[in-house]
Amino acid sequence: MHICVIGTGYVGLVTGLCFAEFGLNVTCVDNDEKKITLLKKGTVPFYEPGAEEMLQRNLKGERIHFTSNMGDAVDASLVIFIAVGTPPRGDGSADLKHIKDVAKEISRHIKSYKVIVTKSTVPVGTGEWLQKIISNNLKEHVDFDIVSNPEFLREGAGIEDFIRPNRIVIGASSAQAVAIMKDLYRPLYLIETPFVITDVKTAELIKYASNAFLATKISFINEIANLCETLGANIQVVARAMGLDRRIGSKFLHAGPGYGGSCFPKDTLALLQIAKENNVKLGVIEATVKTNDLQKKKAVDKIKGAMKLSKENTICILGLSFKPNTNDMRDAPSLSIIRGLLKEGVNIRAFDPVAMDDAKKFFPHITYCKDAFDAAKGSDAVVIVTEWNQFRNLDLKRIKKLVKGKFFFDLRNIYEADKVRDIGFRYYSLGRP
Ligand SMILES: NC(=O)c1ccc[n+]([C@@H]2O[C@H](COP(=O)([O-])OP(=O)(O)OC[C@H]3O[C@@H](n4cnc5c(N)ncnc54)[C@H](O)[C@@H]3O)[C@@H](O)[C@H]2O)c1
Repeated sequence: MHICVIGTGYVGLVTGLCFAEFGLNVTCVDNDEKKITLLKKGTVPFYEPGAEEMLQRNLKGERIHFTSNMGDAVDASLVIFIAVGTPPRGDGSADLKHIKDVAKEISRHIKSYKVIVTKSTVPVGTGEWLQKIISNNLKEHVDFDIVSNPEFLREGAGIEDFIRPNRIVIGASSAQAVAIMKDLYRPLYLIETPFVITDVKTAELIKYASNAFLATKISFINEIANLCETLGANIQVVARAMGLDRRIGSKFLHAGPGYGGSCFPKDTLALLQIAKENNVKLGVIEATVKTNDLQKKKAVDKIKGAMKLSKENTICILGLSFKPNTNDMRDAPSLSIIRGLLKEGVNIRAFDPVAMDDAKKFFPHITYCKDAFDAAKGSDAVVIVTEWNQFRNLDLKRIKKLVKGKFFFDLRNIYEADKVRDIGFRYYSLGRP
C-alpha cells in the first residue's frame, strides 16, 4: 500500500518511518525544502533517538521517499496522513492555518478515493470542517473519507511509542475507512495493541482529554510538593506511595519546575478554548494551567529567595530542552527560568547535550558551554533544569572545585540531599526536607 505523510516534524517523520518499517511504501511531504534535502540524504533535522538509523535503513530499502511536491505524493497514495503543526493562537485556541493549507492543496490533487487522516492534534469538529473544505475545493466529485487518528507518542521515545503503543484510536464514520486503517496498523494486532474505534469527534477529544489529564497529574503533584515543603514532608515518598496504588499509577508524579513542551501547554489551553466556545466550564483544567504557570515562577523565586542575585552573579544552567532526549525547546521550563534570572541581571553559563543550537534562537547572548563542568566554572549556583541521564551522576566533587559559590538547585529531585551537602553545597530541591 502507498501512503503519504504531510509534515515531517517529530510526529510526521516518526509516523512515516514506522509505517515504512512495517513494509508500506511511504512518501513524506514537507514545505520546508531544507528539511526535505536533509532527509533525502539520510539526516534527521532534529534529535529523536533511533530515527536516523531507521531513516537510512528505509531509504536504502526504497520504502521511504521525501518530496516538497504534495501533488505526486497525494496522487499515488490511498491514505494521506496530515501531521503538520497546530500551534496556539493568542487566545490559546489551536491555529489550523497549516491544516487548512494542506486540505486545500490535497483537494487540488485527488482524483480517486482517499482516506484523509488527521494525526495532528486538532480541535473537536475539525473533521467536519475538513470535509467541507476539501469538498468545496475539489475540481470534480471524488469520494474520500476523513479519519481522526490522534498520536500519543512521546518525543525522545517516539519510535518505541509508535511501534508499541498503549492504544490506537481510530475515529471514522465509514466502515471502508476503518477497514483500511486497521489494515495499515495490522502489525500491531500481532502484539495485541488495543484498538478504540469510534466517531471522529470522540477521537479528537480523546487526545485533548488524555493530555489534559497528564498535565493535571503534574500540576497536582507539584502542588503537593509545595505543601510538603511547608510541612517538612517528603514529596518523593508521598509520590511513590501514591503511585503504588494501581488506580493512581506512578507515571507523571514527579515534582518539577512545571510541564512544558510542544503539547501539554498548548493542548490544555486549546481544550479550555473549545470548552469556552461551547459554554462548558473545565475548572480542573483551568486550575492545572494556573498551577503550572505559578510553578514555573516558583522555580525562579526559590533561587531568588536563597541567594541575593545581582549582575555580579553567574548561574550555571544544566538542561535546556523541555525534557531529556529531545532538542525541543517549545515552552520549556528553562525559558521562563532563564528569562526570570536574566531579569535579575545575572550571567548564565548553560549546557544541554542536544538543545543548545535551538536555545540560541531564544537566548543568543548567554554563554553556551561544552559540558556540565565547563558550565559550572566560576558559577555562584548550579541549577539542574532538565534531568538528562548524564546529569544524574555528576562528579560533584569536581563541580565543587570549579564553582565560585555553594548553591545547588536540583529542580528535578535527582540527587540525595545529604550527599550533595556533604560535598559542601547548599542544596535545594522541591518538596523535600
Ligand atoms: N511533538 C509531539 O510530541 C506530539 C505528540 C503527539 C501529537 N502531536 C501533534 O502533532 C502535530 C505535529 O507536531 P510536531 O511536533 O510533529 O510538529 P513540528 O512543528 O515538529 O512539525 C510540523 C511539520 O509540518 C510542516 N508543515 C507545516 N505546514 C506545512 C504545509 N502546508 N505543507 C507541508 N508541510 C508543512 C513543517 O514544516 C514541519 O516540518 C501537532 O498538532 C502536535 O500537537 C505532537
